[in-house]
Amino acid sequence: MEKGEISRLDSVMKIFLADTEATLHLGITLGESLTAGSAILLKGDLGAGKTTLVQGIGKGLGIAESIVSPTFTLINEYTEGRLPLYHLDLYRLEPQEVAALNLESYWEGIEVIPGIVAVEWAERLPYKPDSYLSVNLTYGNGGTRQAELIPFNCALSETIAAL
Ligand SMILES: Nc1ncnc2c1ncn2[C@@H]1O[C@H](COP(=O)(O)OP(=O)(O)OP(=O)(O)O)[C@@H](O)[C@H]1O
Ligand SMILES: [Mg+2]
Repeated sequence: MEKGEISRLDSVMKIFLADTEATLHLGITLGESLTAGSAILLKGDLGAGKTTLVQGIGKGLGIAESIVSPTFTLINEYTEGRLPLYHLDLYRLEPQEVAALNLESYWEGIEVIPGIVAVEWAERLPYKPDSYLSVNLTYGNGGTRQAELIPFNCALSETIAAL
């Protein structure tokens, strides 16, 4: 492993997101560069932009179908893109309910085609994947947002690191 890669492993990236377009654009860049089996764990207050980011990821994967929040359906699967996208929203669940769902089959690719797993309200996960990208969305001044990207046991892609 290169020295530069090591220093990126546990680095925190902060990205200013001026508007909805900026959030979408970050998602698109992720969607274009993520590899099969990637898990994106999204955290952030109500309305912080989690679904918007996943909509961008869908675009970046080449998914034309519109991505809607799976708050009531729990999980939405999109299979028409470069990789399958599994979009989860745990808002309505307690950690013990989440535990019963065996969500690890998604990021371990057991009985599902390995793809991208994007989880809204990931703080409700009682267990985490071995490696994942944590994305924390927070509110800034004037209705803007900020994204904090923290890779756990993985490296950010060149394109993301260059943002
Ligand atoms: N960077 C941004 N600046 C301003 N508004 C934004 C930004 N990103 C997204 N939004 C807007 O914020 C609103 C809420 O976004 P979104 O539904 O993606 O949030 P969420 O975190 O998924 O919400 P929930 O907690 O309900 O799941 C949308 O109207 C979206 O267009
Ligand atoms: Mg949402």
